[in-house]
Parts: sequence; structure tokens; C-alpha cells
Amino acid sequence: SRCYKVMILPGDHIGPEIMNEVLPLFEMLSSKLDVSFQLMERRIGGNCLDLHHCPIQPETLQEAQGCDAILLGSVGGPKWDRGDSENRPETGILRLRRHLNLFANVRPAKVISESQLAFSSLKPERVEGVDIITLRENVGGIYFGPKVEPGPDAMVASDLCEYTREEVARLTRVAATLSLSLGGKEPLAIHSIDKANVMASSRLWRQVVKETIRSEFPQLEPKLSHHLVDSAAMVLAKEPRKLNGILLTENLFGDILSDLTSVIPGSLGLLGSAELSGAPIFQQGSESPRPKGVYQPVSGSAPDIAGKGIANPIGMFESFAMMCRWSLDLTRVADLIDEAIRTTLDRGECTIDAGGNLSTREAGQAIRRFVQDGLSG
Ligand code: NAD
Ligand code: IPM
Ligand code: MN
Repeated sequence: SRCYKVMILPGDHIGPEIMNEVLPLFEMLSSKLDVSFQLMERRIGGNCLDLHHCPIQPETLQEAQGCDAILLGSVGGPKWDRGDSENRPETGILRLRRHLNLFANVRPAKVISESQLAFSSLKPERVEGVDIITLRENVGGIYFGPKVEPGPDAMVASDLCEYTREEVARLTRVAATLSLSLGGKEPLAIHSIDKANVMASSRLWRQVVKETIRSEFPQLEPKLSHHLVDSAAMVLAKEPRKLNGILLTENLFGDILSDLTSVIPGSLGLLGSAELSGAPIFQQGSESPRPKGVYQPVSGSAPDIAGKGIANPIGMFESFAMMCRWSLDLTRVADLIDEAIRTTLDRGECTIDAGGNLSTREAGQAIRRFVQDGLSG
């Protein structure tokens, strides 16, 4: 029997609330399947700053290296908002990304249930059939360039956006793998998003994306298109199906666009993500080493609703499913969780942000019950 080592990082505000809803799945899986789990719970974010005076401990980064997967809630909150970059909760996440070289951030936004057509803030006929994966560069660009922090009397502060050819090429290879593996007979469209009309780093981006596809994946050339980020944002809000496929983009654009894609299926609380150190492996049972992975909802710690028991746990379940699929080789479980999410949404069994009236606990229970039945059946 296989024993998986999984690090649990609940984080701040709604982070622990939604994490609590997926934790019982570990017990359930070990009792029903031939697997076991060694869970290591650690601190990250504001609660880590409060106790250890750093947003993530160096030993946690070390231990994460030896885990099969890392499951994260969310970090941050007003209490810690005055800190400089050394003393901010968010820095814990950035350090984890850099330490594990999680350069590929996969953020799917898919309309999976009729109930979403009515609830989305876009018209039903625009929302139907939307299936967009934001593939965000996650360890470079303006997030990680040299910074000039604003001092008390600062006249200037700055962040620098740099990309190397290799940083762009390796993410393009992940986009190609996703396009070929997820597309079935027809590879998914790859929409590369940049600001090449203004930014030098974007001109390199466009050039390297083109060259990598042409030389390494010539069969995908007809699937590749380039868009300026401002116009892509407009299309996402107006006619999102036009961007079905993969949005291949740099760090900051991907951060912004992935939140924007969440309004199409209805709520930021629905989206999960995988942050990976390489292309996912799609063959079940493959012995090749899997990329490192941190799995977390796309949303933040939602301090405005924390403690009320109304946070949507679906983004956390979705992240759990992606972990099963890409880090744990538990494809059947991943499929079952996805089916559970679809079914509970169909029945309106969800929290208010997604059109239901359940509490976090009740919505979590509905999904877990479905998974339990599926594992028993
Ligand atoms: P947010 O994503 O936390 O919340 C934005 C809005 O969406 C809020 O109105 C919130 O109530 C709602 N929302 C988010 N998740 C939800 C859920 N699961 N169910 C129902 N509604 C949900 O963004 P913010 O308020 O701008 O940021 C709060 C803190 O989170 C900040 O400190 C920010 O830096 C941090 N943050 C952390 C992460 C992360 O941990 N990965 C991601 C984004 C933001
Ligand atoms: C996200 C968050 C993070 C980001 C923050 C918390 C560092 O907004 O994961 O989208 O900006 O990348
Ligand atoms: Mn974000």
C-alpha cells in the first residue's frame, strides 16, 4: 500500500474553515482504498508571523521539499497589512513558490452546471460552455524582480519586470502538454496574453512562445494566437467562449485574469489551482517522477466573511481533486470529487456566493457524502 506525505497549510481567516472541510477526505480514502497518508500541518501567513515572526519557517520550506503534495488554504488579512515584504503573510506563499520552483500555475474556470448559467453575472447564453484554463507564470516577472520599497518619506518606489527566454519557453512547454493532453482528439487553443505593444518583456514573451511552439510543437501552430491583455480582459467579460482553451500568460496578468475568469462560473470561491514545478503527468500509474505541487483555492482569505461559516469550500475541494490527479496518482478519486461538485451544484447545494443557501459545513458535507457513496459503490 502506498503512503503519501502531504503537508497541510491552513493559513488565515477562511483558510482553516475551508481546509477543515477537505481534511476528513484523507480518513475516508485510507479506509476505503489501499492508501495511507502522513499529514504534516504547519503554519503559513499571518498566524506564522504572529508566532514565529516570519511568514513561513525555513524548516517548513525544507520539509515541503520532501512531501508528495502540499495543500494550502489562504493567507493574509488587515491585521498584517502594514508590513513590508519581509513581514507580510503573502510573502510566505511567494517563498514557497520560489523554493519549490513552482513555475506553472494552473487555474481552471469551467462552467459545469446548469445552475451556474442562471447565477453568473453574465447572460446565460454567454456563460454556457465556457472552459478556460489560466496558465500563469508563477516564479518570475514583476513579482520577483528587484524592488525599491517606499520608505517613510519616499519619493519613488519600484518593481522591475524581467523575463528570460528559458522562463518563457518552459511555461510554453507546459501549455503545449496541457493542450495536447486535455484536448482529446482536438488540442486546446493556446491564447498567449501579453502587452507586446508597450512592454519589452512582453515582446520577448511573444517571440519565445512563437519559436517554442514552431520548433517543438509544430502541430500546435494553428492553435496558437496572441492577444494584448487589455483586449483579452474585455473579451473575457463580453464573449468568454472565444477564449476557451489555455490563457498562457505572465505572473501579474495571470493573477488578475484568473480572478476575472471566476465570475463566469459564478464565484471566486469555486476555483482551485495547482502550482507545479513542471508539466503534469497524465498517464495513470506512470513511474516517472511527478512535478512538485502546491494546491490551493484561487481566492484569498476573505476576511470580510471569515468566522461566519459561509465561505465556499468548493475551490478547496477542487484543489484537493487536482492534487489527487497530478501528485497522488488517484485519478478515480479526482473524478469522483469533480462529479460530486457538479452534482451538488446541480442541486443548488452550495453556499450563497454561488447561489445556494448552505453553510460551509453543510456544503462540505454534501460533497463528502457523494464521494463516500461513490467509494463504497
Ligand atoms: P479575496 O480573494 O480574499 O476576496 C475577494 C472577495 O471574494 C471577497 O468579497 C470575499 O468574501 C469573496 N470570496 C473569496 N473567497 C471566497 C469563498 N471561498 N467563498 C465565498 N466568497 C469568497 O481577496 P481580498 O479580500 O482582496 O484579499 C484578502 C486577503 O487575502 C489579502 O490579504 C490578500 O493578500 C490575500 N490573498 C491571499 C491569497 C492566497 O492565499 N493564495 C490569494 C489572494 C489574496
Ligand atoms: C494569488 C494571490 C497571491 C498572488 C498573493 C497572495 C501573493 O493573489 O495566488 O492569486 O498575487 O499571486
Ligand atoms: Mn490573486
